[in-house]
Amino acid sequence: MVAETPIVDAAPAKVNLYLHVTGKRADGYHLLDSLVVLADIGDQITATPSDTLSLNYTGPFAKGLPPAQSNLVLHAAERLKDAFGVSAGAALTLDKVLPMASGIGGGSADAAATLRALCTLWHLDITHPKVADLALSLGADVPVCLRGQSAIMRGIGEDIRPVGHLPPLNLILINPGVEVSTPAVFKARTSAFSNLVEIPGTFSDASAFHAFLKVTQNDLEPPAIGLQPIIGDILEALRALPGVALARMSGSGATCFGIVKNADAAHAGAQALSASHPTWWVQATSVK
Ligand code: C5P
Repeated sequence: MVAETPIVDAAPAKVNLYLHVTGKRADGYHLLDSLVVLADIGDQITATPSDTLSLNYTGPFAKGLPPAQSNLVLHAAERLKDAFGVSAGAALTLDKVLPMASGIGGGSADAAATLRALCTLWHLDITHPKVADLALSLGADVPVCLRGQSAIMRGIGEDIRPVGHLPPLNLILINPGVEVSTPAVFKARTSAFSNLVEIPGTFSDASAFHAFLKVTQNDLEPPAIGLQPIIGDILEALRALPGVALARMSGSGATCFGIVKNADAAHAGAQALSASHPTWWVQATSVK
């Protein structure tokens, strides 16, 4: 039995507030410790009942996407269908709002939203271990995106831990329109491995949260700047704005975020940077 009505699932941008590389496995994958939060901006997946599987694109970044056959969304759908022996199909639409290969989830969030939408459409148990295995095999960021809420990500991405209440954040997100290769960034990383982070169970206020974040880092930021120096320019531009508590790169880049004190400051800062850098993708957003 399949659901009759379209299922719509959000694929929010994920922001790595910190990302420590704590080791490397024998197979070359890196061990991570990252605080991942979900912003209120993102792509969207719609799954409509159909006899076959198909994918089409809408949205501002639709034209840069690869052919549907090479998109992680369709891979996720095909692999879920095979894993559970589903005979039904689905007509999928990806509304692409986030820039590609940008360190804020993009493809991983889309794949996770596809798994959620199709589990609903096809009446599958999303908590089945086969779904978790499938998520990790699609990409190291897919499990945290599948969880759909802020979390600590460890291991190579499969070890997802709940995080206590975090003060809300107002952010400016900036992507310069250059794609950064995740394997290349990991390969270029030469610093010593970092420690695991001990995150407090609670923060007295936003300033305490920001102060905590300041003693963490993104270990992939220096190698990514080495490959794409424009990331350094973005961080400099964010730090020059009034009221920016912290500016950092997310994931393996190139998207950077600035934490600002309130929504008005985020909108004003985003407007100023859009005007001074018209080729950059600049968005004011928040994490609730
Ligand atoms: O799994 P995902 O597609 O995100 O990973 C892309 C590449 O990034 C991997 O092939 C690997 O080179 C690198 N990576 C890593 N350690 C991780 C995640 C990714 O070395 N935890």
